Amino acid sequence: SIIVLDYGSQYNQLITRRIRDLGIYSELLPNTTTAEQIKQLAPQGIILSGGPNSVYAPDAPQIDPAIWELGIPILGICYGMQLMMATLGGQVEAAGAPEYGRAGIEIEKTSSLLFKDLPAKQYVWMSHGDRVTQIPESFETVAISSNTPYAVVEDAARKLYGIQFHAEVRNSDYGLDILKNFAFQICGAQANWSMSDFIDAQIAQIRETVGDRKVLLGLSGGVDSSVVGVLLHKAIGDQLTSIFVDHGLLRKGEADQVMASLEGKFGLNIVKVDAQKRFLDKLAGISEPEQKRKIIGNEFIQVFNDEAQKLDGIDFLAQGTLYTDVIESGTSTAQTIKSHHNVGGLPEDMHFQLIEPLRTLFKDEVRELGEKLGMPHDLVWRQPFPGPGLGIRVLGAVTEDKLQIVRDSDYILREEIKNAGLEETIWQYFTVLPGMRSVGVMGDGRTYDYTVGIRAVTSIDGMTADFAEIPWKILAKISTRITNEVDHVNRVVYDITSKPPATIEWE
Ligand code: XMP
Repeated sequence: SIIVLDYGSQYNQLITRRIRDLGIYSELLPNTTTAEQIKQLAPQGIILSGGPNSVYAPDAPQIDPAIWELGIPILGICYGMQLMMATLGGQVEAAGAPEYGRAGIEIEKTSSLLFKDLPAKQYVWMSHGDRVTQIPESFETVAISSNTPYAVVEDAARKLYGIQFHAEVRNSDYGLDILKNFAFQICGAQANWSMSDFIDAQIAQIRETVGDRKVLLGLSGGVDSSVVGVLLHKAIGDQLTSIFVDHGLLRKGEADQVMASLEGKFGLNIVKVDAQKRFLDKLAGISEPEQKRKIIGNEFIQVFNDEAQKLDGIDFLAQGTLYTDVIESGTSTAQTIKSHHNVGGLPEDMHFQLIEPLRTLFKDEVRELGEKLGMPHDLVWRQPFPGPGLGIRVLGAVTEDKLQIVRDSDYILREEIKNAGLEETIWQYFTVLPGMRSVGVMGDGRTYDYTVGIRAVTSIDGMTADFAEIPWKILAKISTRITNEVDHVNRVVYDITSKPPATIEWE
């Protein structure tokens, strides 16, 4: 395996993911992991992730210095490289201006195994404030950029490598190849890990954690929680009870459709809870997005608490939390973008222990897992739908009337995308109600009504996204249908922003 020590970068799990894609087991461990613990795990390589800190800051995360002496190859990325330089006798300083974006690097030491069979000039993704100004004596420069003589450094004898850029993101042209060279050429790792191993390991772990106790699963009908359900049922059978909460923020026809596609299938027993009123009452008059998310997350847990009491003897709550939810909700080291409900809204006095078997995976890995578990294609490829549902697509305060507009317009959009055969090429497509009104004309009369926004994006893992290029003809049809068929809508706009700088959802 190759372990990744977490220094807080938004991209840290992406590194483990890239390594797993190479067929090598990888996990993310806290930066406080000691050399002794690492020795026990006996990994073939170690990667130090990037991070938002400055290595000399008083509370900057450090590394157990004995790790340098383990003889295991180490690759430091960005902060990881700076930490390597600073602790082994080099210098790191605040750069005049932060360097952010694509930059050209030039390989000077072409014999470096890190760049074996790779072009001498290539573009990489830089994102750093500090930079290395002096390297330790035993190190040498492998590559330079116009901004730094130390874009890549190595001490090949000790198998220590540092790269100032982020090889794990797609914007680094040969990033994956560099990680590949590190894994195979330098660490001598073998590609012998697969999703089936993940399933076996998870099942064993779930059995060990749960023992003969009981688990409650919040099933939304989406890919993530459905996959968790099937996985849990494989592991613990009828010790699992699944609850589907209709929080009144679902899409048109969704509750019935979910029950029809999952109840009684894959051994799942589903309890449906009608909680529309509870949620809408709690949301009344609340317009701040983070507050709305937290209220919804909290109410989910309350509903589960209530249901669990009826069931008696439930100790665990299972959720389909993915890595993207974890990272964007903020971890101890990464910044909060938004509070995804299955992470951000958990009350302090929670009565359950959490089980989140997908916590290290990205969406496309979950789909692969679902297919490996034998789940039907349609279910596995359903577009993502956020836990807070339409509650974050009606911007500002949520009302039943506004939900109706989103539900009806979303239904039309989904129908037309399906008719056009675009379902699987677009990652997510939905409508939002910004709540603004504008002037229009209908028949001979003036209207003053709502605008509906269409959001459609392509993405691989939800971390970044591009707006989808839906053909004009199809957009025109959708717009005509929405303005004709949905009451109180006289204008339709198309969101042409990518993520970043926008996010996929509008709240
Ligand atoms: P954003 O809007 O953060 O969305 O760019 C990234 C992906 O995550 C989904 N999303 C959520 N999923 N609970 C979820 O389960 C949430 O609270 C949540 N918020 C956003 C979003 O639909 C997109 O696929």
